[in-house]
Amino acid sequence: MQRILVTGGAGFIGSNFVHHLVEHTDATVTVLDKLTYAASRESLAGLPEDRVSLVVGDIADAAVVEPLVGEHDAVVHYAAESHNDNSLSDPSPFVQTNIIGTFTLLEAVRKAGVRFHHISTDEVYGDLELDDPERFTEQTPYNPSSPYSSTKAGSDLLVRAWVRSFGVQATISNCSNNYGPWQHIEKFIPRQITNVIEGIRPKLYGAGLNVRDWIHADDHSSAVWTILNKGEIGETYLIGADGEKNNLEVVEMILQHFGKAADDFDHVTDRAGHDLRYAIDSTKLRTELGWQPQFADFEAGLTNTIQWYVDHADWWRPAKQATEATYAAKGQ
Ligand code: NAD
Ligand code: DAU
Repeated sequence: MQRILVTGGAGFIGSNFVHHLVEHTDATVTVLDKLTYAASRESLAGLPEDRVSLVVGDIADAAVVEPLVGEHDAVVHYAAESHNDNSLSDPSPFVQTNIIGTFTLLEAVRKAGVRFHHISTDEVYGDLELDDPERFTEQTPYNPSSPYSSTKAGSDLLVRAWVRSFGVQATISNCSNNYGPWQHIEKFIPRQITNVIEGIRPKLYGAGLNVRDWIHADDHSSAVWTILNKGEIGETYLIGADGEKNNLEVVEMILQHFGKAADDFDHVTDRAGHDLRYAIDSTKLRTELGWQPQFADFEAGLTNTIQWYVDHADWWRPAKQATEATYAAKGQ
């Protein structure tokens, strides 16, 4: 696989994957990205121009997608509207990009006979009780809660149908919550880090007892590359690094890092339909394809991420005021 088209490659996880390809393979990469509010050209700055190029375009635009797909050996599909809170305010772009966009890509790979890897989320499985001994596996029934997760579930089902009905050469991965550099400050961890830097108290939805299963974005990238090369066509792989923490614990770690009191945060209005707990059993990926995460220690990964946001205030600060104003208008 020499020529790889990465949709959404100017976003948080997609750009991490582009860096991973440049550092660990000799592939050439084309990024197809609409450059929405969530994208950042800076995340791709400094990459070798003979290896990485950017096409600004919409994955739902067949006139852009079809010729581009035909020039590549594989498509790795990250592009999406990705934030649950935004999907509650306006679901429309989520349906358009996550469903129509994925449909458009599937039609293009079907016509061109190109390998496809679809990036999805553990949220398609709904949520777990805090004391449930079981975690999500590839056999867990779909049960999405939000407009965001339902559009991701819909896109996964399109991929499965295109494999079975048309023989499209596709795999799917469903990953848990990512953290690391270049994540938009609307998301939980960067929002709280940048709040503390700006002298704003962190904001916890509800009681803060909701659990997320954190994985460093670099580990997500290595897992996707493993699946692209060794995964079986038509199969789904869950990606996770055994990183369960509740939101209160994460806020306390951030406060402690900055030398603040453990209770120096606000409880704010809860998210509608807020999923209680996600937890991934990634046994299949580990045993069948031999993948292992490198960031086993969440606290160490979080410390690196905090330092990254301290060092990159020029990148996130222009968006901070507007992001907080949007939350404040919703009591969050
Ligand atoms: P992000 O919001 O940071 O980036 C999304 C990127 O997609 C942006 O660069 C944006 O400009 C681009 N994009 C959006 N609509 C587009 C369109 N119509 N055409 C072309 N480009 C478009 O998202 P992220 O957090 O990096 O997530 C990337 C993918 O990983 C998504 O599919 C998401 O569902 C999935 N995922 C995310 C997480 C997580 O924790 N963030 C976990 C599991 C899976
Ligand atoms: O599980 C994978 C999913 O993880 C991805 O599919 C999504 O694209 C990604 O955004 C993420 O979804 P979450 O909704 O879990 O992430 P978010 O960062 O929005 O919130 C994480 C948790 O923190 C969640 O329980 C809500 C809570 N939260 C969030 C914000 C923004 C707060 O308590 N306070 C906040 O200010």
